[in-house]
Formats: sequence, structure tokens, C-alpha cells
Amino acid sequence: MSRVVVTGRVPDAAIEKLRAEHEVDAWSGPESIGREELLRRVAGADAVVSLLTERIDAELLDAAGPQLKVVANVAVGYDNIDVPACTERGIVATNTPGVLTDATADIALSLILMATRRLGEGERLIRSGQAWKWGMFFLLGSSLQGKTLGVVGMGGIGQATARRAKAFGMEIVYQSRSEIDPGVAAELGARRVDLNELLTVSDVVSLHCPYGPATHHLLGAEQLGAMKSSAYLVNTARGPIVDEAALASALREGRIAGAGLDVYEHEPRVHPELLELDNVVLLPHLGSATVETRTAMAMLAADNALAVLGGDRPPAPIG
Ligand code: GLV
Repeated sequence: MSRVVVTGRVPDAAIEKLRAEHEVDAWSGPESIGREELLRRVAGADAVVSLLTERIDAELLDAAGPQLKVVANVAVGYDNIDVPACTERGIVATNTPGVLTDATADIALSLILMATRRLGEGERLIRSGQAWKWGMFFLLGSSLQGKTLGVVGMGGIGQATARRAKAFGMEIVYQSRSEIDPGVAAELGARRVDLNELLTVSDVVSLHCPYGPATHHLLGAEQLGAMKSSAYLVNTARGPIVDEAALASALREGRIAGAGLDVYEHEPRVHPELLELDNVVLLPHLGSATVETRTAMAMLAADNALAVLGGDRPPAPIG
């Protein structure tokens, strides 16, 4: 029997699955586990099932000890994990790709609709108690039909977002490290372009690339400046891909029309200027937040941990 530490609350089904085979120490406090408590609890763990809010770095791996075999993140993004530090110590790191693709693409499409149709503004107006009535020019947004979506990072979530946007009548261009399946590209009528062209031609730019040193501030003042002044930026990937201060200035000065964000550079803090602006929709990192998706993520993370503890290849190793 091995010792499994779960760093935050996850659906019961995953805990039960782990408990059927191993001793499980699962944090169940209402708040995130504090760093000191986390370092204390991981000591002697054979597996750590981590949430994206916990930093899994060399200090934590060393606090766990040399018996640690696997870090199973309950997220597709793994910028919270120092993967090279895991590899150096022979620890397998895993994530949860695939199971949250549709839920996250649904949120990307929601943000596209909310931003282009000014839905947050409308909702806030009604709730403010201000007088309003239907008017020919009241809260006019911008249509999607015939417009171009630029997808930055054409993995599973990027493709699922493109598929939804196509159903709304949008043309698709994408920027990606690698060529996608030609059948998918043909089905979507998607054209691969470089980032600069994507920014120049797109009416909506949606970010779906992983975060790391190569994508830190991928969209800064210069890139935002390359976008059309009528265009919108949507981010459901990771906050620091965008220079949030530069985005706030671009939105304030009308250099782009609007934005929809589910993630933030210094999460959970939101840049104070963004909070003052009407042309940005702000969601609290809800990309994968459905009961079904969170359950599937936790079950996949449990399967990853169980496989490694059993001496098998996990279903979703990182790298
Ligand atoms: C959520 O942000 C994830 O990476 O799963």
C-alpha cells in the first residue's frame, strides 16, 4: 500500500478509487492548502495528486522524499509543475488532456459571444436598476457571421473552439507549432498562418496555447497593436500569455474593441484597470467547471497515479 497525498478537494469518486488500493491523505479544508501544511503533508508520499493552484517545485519534491514516484495534476495545463525537476528525480508527471476539451471550448465560445454581443454590459445595466428600453442603436455589438477567428494554439481545445465558431459562420485561421491533421483542417476550412498575420486578419483572437517561457507575454503591446481596432481577444488558456497591463491600455484607448478573459496574469488578482472597463468580460477561471468534467479530470488523475504506483505507463504522461 502506498501513500497518496491529494492537495485539494476533488470529487469523491476519485478519492474512493484511490482509497480502494492505497492510503489517501486528502486536504479537505474550505481554503487552499497553505504552503507550509502542504510541505509537511507530502513528506513520505509515493504519489501527489495536485491542483493547479499548488506549486510543485524542487522544494516540494525534496520535502516529499526519494520514494515519490508520480505527480498527477488535475488539470491539462501544468505550468504549476517544474517538470524538469520531476524528470531529474525520476518522478513521472501527468496531466488530464482530452476530458476538458469541450467544456473549455464552450467557455471560449461563451466569451466570444459575451464580448462581441456586449452581454455582460447588458446584464450589469439591468442589475444596476438604470432605466432602459429597446432602441435601434441600444447596446449594439458585432456579428460573428463571415468574420474571422484566429486560434493561437490549435491543439484539442483550439480545434474544438474552431469547430464551434465555424458553426456560427466564422472563417478560421490558426497559428500552431505543428501542422494539424489535414482532415481536421479541411473540415474546418482552417488556414495555418504566422502569429503576425493571424493578429492582422482576425476579428476575434482566441488563445489556446500552453503557458511557459516561450509564450510568456506572447501578446504584449506590439501584438495587441497589430490587431484590428474592431477585434476582440479571448483568453481561456493561462493569464501570463497576455501582458495584462498592455491589454488594459489597449482596451481603455479603444485600440481593440473588447476582450473576454477566464484567466489572469496574477490569478486570482485581476488587474484593477480591467475591473473599471466595460469592454471586457471577466470570468473566474471556469473553463473546466462542470460537474461531469471535474469528475472526469479527477478520475483521470487518479488513473494516472494508480498506473505509476502499479508500475505501469500512465494514460496521460506529460511530455
Ligand atoms: C485548467 O485551467 C486546466 O489547465 O485544466
